[in-house]
Amino acid sequence: MINANNEISGEEIDFSPPKKHPHLVPLPEGPWKQFEMIKDGVDTAPFLEEIASVEGAWDLQKGRQDKIPVQREAKSIPIRGMRKSKMAGRKPVNVHESRFTYTSQKFPLARKFLEEFAKEWGGELSRAKLVLLPPGNRVYPHIDRGDYYRIRDRFHLILQTGEQGSWLRTADEEVRMKTGELWRFNNKGMHEAHNDSDTDRIHFIFDLKPIG
Ligand SMILES: [Fe+2]
Repeated sequence: MINANNEISGEEIDFSPPKKHPHLVPLPEGPWKQFEMIKDGVDTAPFLEEIASVEGAWDLQKGRQDKIPVQREAKSIPIRGMRKSKMAGRKPVNVHESRFTYTSQKFPLARKFLEEFAKEWGGELSRAKLVLLPPGNRVYPHIDRGDYYRIRDRFHLILQTGEQGSWLRTADEEVRMKTGELWRFNNKGMHEAHNDSDTDRIHFIFDLKPIG
């Protein structure tokens, strides 16, 4: 079951600071503990063109916004998702197997970026989605729990955002991520997002399982 405060009910929400290893691959020394900016200057126009070329792209799949209360104000396009045939009685948050979605055939550039970055960074492809958070909307505070997330790192490629950048908080840190930047952050801490701009905020959100 999923409730309004957490993605999965029946589990206590842990408000304590993040544990020793907020990331699976340790963060370098830097200004942040919960975040790492990996790249900037990624040309995002082709990604936006690809999305715009698909009619009704944001309304193809509504499962995430309908089923996960904390995500109810965000629209998404699944690029890689859980492999349902491998669930074997497990809860979705405990299923490791994933595959490119049928929908992703319409988004070859997003797929290519994912495959190339996974190779470059040294990670195994996992779940991925394009996410649109309209102006004024929020992703409500939650922790990404379960066996799946426990062994994976979470990335955001900022495809489009307002001038101030995309606000994201995890635990006691917050950042504003600008268009063209690729970030890794700790989604095992309590996190939330808010689009306080007047521009649609579009992120490519994906996970990788470190290899080696
Ligand atoms: Fe999350």
